[in-house]
Amino acid sequence: MIKRSQKAVARAHSEEKGDFAEQIPICKGIEKVMIRIALTKGRIEKQAAELLSRCGYDMSELAEKGRKLIFHVPEEDIEIVLAKAADVITYVEHGVCDVGMVGADTIMEHAKSVCELLDLNFGRCKFALAGLRGGNFYDGYGHKVIASKYPHVTKTYFTEKGMDVEVVKIEGSVELAPLLSLSDAIVDIVETGATLRENGLEVYEEIA
Ligand code: PRP
Repeated sequence: MIKRSQKAVARAHSEEKGDFAEQIPICKGIEKVMIRIALTKGRIEKQAAELLSRCGYDMSELAEKGRKLIFHVPEEDIEIVLAKAADVITYVEHGVCDVGMVGADTIMEHAKSVCELLDLNFGRCKFALAGLRGGNFYDGYGHKVIASKYPHVTKTYFTEKGMDVEVVKIEGSVELAPLLSLSDAIVDIVETGATLRENGLEVYEEIA
């Protein structure tokens, strides 16, 4: 089981806001400093904003954001930067954001030099190998093609199994690939399973 959109990477935090600072050893004892948080926009954005609200921060501007991408949290030395998941990693790795809130799937696929500091306990999902309902991925000896938004995770998984597969990188709605006969299967995250079900696909095996 992995968790999506729930990992925090931090360098500093103000001393009063409780939960985060107390749980992150390097934050203990640090006086109030400016902090910039990169937050993954989209699916987990609401849960992340709710979490920060519960920590005592005024996130109302985020709720009415329109197309704006950077927000100052009122009465705090905190900026929120909204970015795509992979870019959250990039901004933290390059040091222009202090903390990232992003899924473990993105960390597994993209991260090179970040450390995971805290599991935020939302966005639970798993990586799975999936394909057309009733299909048997391991039948036959032919060359297998896997479509995925996660080529690194996919390659690593099949290399560990000793299988040489071709991985086709897809940017979104990867479920289309087996439906259009582009691939024999997909490697993707599954949360509720609704997307697979509604498109006639099923999980063949869980990966992580
Ligand atoms: C993710 C994932 C699946 C879907 C799984 O896509 O790639 O398509 O969510 O969720 P479910 O099991 O709850 O149906 P996302 O919503 O991030 O959109 P994308 O495919 O356009 O990247």
